[in-house]
Amino acid sequence: MKLFNLSYNLIAQCLFLISLCAFITSTKSELTFFNYTETSLNDTNVPNQTPFVIKLDTYDDGTTLVHIIRQDNNLNATCTNYLRMPALGLEQIFRIRVIQLNGTVNEINLDLKLDPPNYCYGKTMPVRIYALQKPFILVNYLNATNSSDPTTYEEWASVIDWNGNIKSKVRFGLSFVKFNIWHPSSGIHLNVNNKLGFLRIAFEGNASSYSYGWQQYIVDNSGNLTMLKNATIATDQAGLSITSTAMATIDGGYAIIYANSTIEANINNSFIIRGKVYADFISYNSSIGDRTILLYSLNKNVNFTGIYCDLVATGVGSLHNHYRFYQL
Ligand SMILES: *[C@@H]1O[C@H](CO)[C@@H](O)[C@H](O)[C@H]1NC(C)=O
Ligand SMILES: *[C@@H]1O[C@H](CO)[C@@H](O)[C@H](O)[C@H]1NC(C)=O
Ligand SMILES: *[C@@H]1O[C@H](CO)[C@@H](O)[C@H](O)[C@H]1NC(C)=O
Ligand SMILES: *[C@@H]1O[C@H](CO)[C@@H](O)[C@H](O)[C@H]1NC(C)=O
Ligand SMILES: *[C@@H]1O[C@H](CO)[C@@H](O)[C@H](O)[C@H]1NC(C)=O
Ligand SMILES: *[C@@H]1O[C@H](CO)[C@@H](O)[C@H](O)[C@H]1NC(C)=O
Ligand SMILES: *[C@@H]1O[C@H](CO)[C@@H](O)[C@H](O)[C@H]1NC(C)=O
Ligand SMILES: *[C@@H]1O[C@H](CO)[C@@H](O)[C@H](O)[C@H]1NC(C)=O
Ligand SMILES: *[C@@H]1O[C@H](CO)[C@@H](O)[C@H](O)[C@H]1NC(C)=O
Ligand SMILES: *[C@@H]1O[C@H](CO)[C@@H](O)[C@H](O)[C@H]1NC(C)=O
Ligand SMILES: *[C@@H]1O[C@H](CO)[C@@H](O)[C@H](O)[C@H]1NC(C)=O
Ligand SMILES: *[C@@H]1O[C@H](CO)[C@@H](O)[C@H](O)[C@H]1NC(C)=O
Repeated sequence: MKLFNLSYNLIAQCLFLISLCAFITSTKSELTFFNYTETSLNDTNVPNQTPFVIKLDTYDDGTTLVHIIRQDNNLNATCTNYLRMPALGLEQIFRIRVIQLNGTVNEINLDLKLDPPNYCYGKTMPVRIYALQKPFILVNYLNATNSSDPTTYEEWASVIDWNGNIKSKVRFGLSFVKFNIWHPSSGIHLNVNNKLGFLRIAFEGNASSYSYGWQQYIVDNSGNLTMLKNATIATDQAGLSITSTAMATIDGGYAIIYANSTIEANINNSFIIRGKVYADFISYNSSIGDRTILLYSLNKNVNFTGIYCDLVATGVGSLHNHYRFYQL
C-alpha cells in the first residue's frame, strides 16, 4: 500500500511537470554557418598558444557565451603545487565571447583579479560561467586566503555584464577539501526561466561531519544576487555512500536527486533495503510544495557511482524531467 502511494505521488509529479511544457518556447538563429576570426589574442605573453573553448552556455533567446582559455606552459609547476595533482597552467586573462543571433561577436577580455589557482586546469576548471538573463554572466570562482593551502579556498560568484562591470558578488562558502586535497564538488543549476536565478548544491563539511548544502539565488534586473532559501541534507558519518545531483524542473523549481546505500553484512536476508534513491523537490521561493519522494529502492548491496538527470525533449513541444541511475 505504501509503495502504491509513493508511485502515485511520482506519477502525479510527472504529470504536473509535463502539463507545464507548453510554456517553453524556443527561438532560432537565421545563421547556418558561422566563421569568426579573433582580433585580440595577441595581447599577452602567450600569443602563439591555440585558444580552446572550455564552456558554452546560451541565453533564453539563443545568444551564446563562449569561455576560451589558452595554456601558459610556464605555470604548469605552480599549478601542480596549488592543486596537488598534475595540472596545466593557463593564461591569466578571463576571455568570454558573446555570439549574437546575427553572428556579431563581442570580445570580452578581463582581468577579474582572481587568485592564481583559478587559472589552473586539474580535475576541473576552477572558474565556471553561466548565462543568466541578458546581459549578465555568473562567474563562479575560488577566493583563496593562501593559494598554497586548499583549506582556505572559498567559493565565490560575481555577476558581470558584457562590459565587464561587476554588478554584485557573493560568498558561497568553503570549498570542499578532503585529506588536504581540494575536491571541487559544487554545482550550479540555472532555473528553467533564466530570470529566476539558480540553485547551488555543494558537498560541505570535514572528516567529522559531512552534508550536502543547497542555496537558491535570484538575480534582479540590476544584476544583484540575493539568496532566497538554503538548507542542508544530512548524510551518515562516512558521507561517502551518498551521491547526488540537481536539476531544474520545468515548473520553475529544482530537484535534488540523491542515492544512499548501506553495506549490509547479513547477505542472507534479501528483504533488507540496501539502497535508496530520493528526490527532494524544491519549489521556487516558497517552502510550500517542498517535498522528498522515494524514487527507487534496492535490496541488494550496491554502491551508487553516479546519477544523471536532465530535461529531455520527447517530441514536438514536449519536455520531460528524466532520471538515470548508475550503479556498480
Ligand atoms: C573563415 O574566415 C577566414 C578569414 O576571413 C578565412 O581565411 C577562412 O577560409 C574562413 N573559413 C571557412 C571555413 O570559410
Ligand atoms: C593585435 O592585433 C591587432 C589587429 O591585428 C592590432 O591592431 C593590435 O595592435 C595588436 N596588438 C598587439 C599588442 O600587438
Ligand atoms: C605543461 O603541460 C602541457 C600538457 O601536459 C605540456 O604540453 C607542456 O609541455 C607543459 N609545459 C612545461 C613547461 O612543462
Ligand atoms: C547584431 O545584433 C546586435 C544585438 O542585437 C546589434 O548590436 C548589432 O549591431 C547587430 N549587428 C549587425 C551587423 O547587424
Ligand atoms: C575575496 O575575499 C575577500 C574577503 O575575504 C574579499 O574582500 C575579496 O573581494 C574577495 N575577492 C574576490 C575576487 O571576490
Ligand atoms: C600557506 O600555506 C602553506 C601550505 O600549507 C604554508 O606552508 C604557508 O606557511 C602558508 N602561508 C601563510 C602566509 O600562511
Ligand atoms: C568540522 O565541521 C564541524 C561542523 O561544521 C565543525 O564544528 C568542526 O570544528 C570541523 N572540524 C575541523 C577539524 O575543521
Ligand atoms: C542587493 O541585494 C542585497 C541583499 O538582498 C541588498 O542588501 C542590497 O541593497 C541590494 N542592492 C541593490 C543595489 O539593489
Ligand atoms: C543559510 O544561510 C545563512 C546565511 O548565509 C547561514 O547563516 C545559515 O547557516 C544557512 N543555513 C543552512 C542550513 O545552510
Ligand atoms: C543513509 O543511510 C543511513 C543508514 O541507513 C541512514 O542512517 C541515513 O539517515 C541515510 N541518509 C539519508 C539522507 O537518507
Ligand atoms: C548465510 O547462509 C549460509 C548458508 O545457508 C550460511 O553458511 C551463512 O553463515 C549465512 N550467513 C549469515 C551472515 O547469516
Ligand atoms: C561497495 O564499496 C565497498 C567499499 O569500497 C566495497 O567493499 C563493496 O564491495 C562495494 N559493493 C559492491 C556491491 O560493489
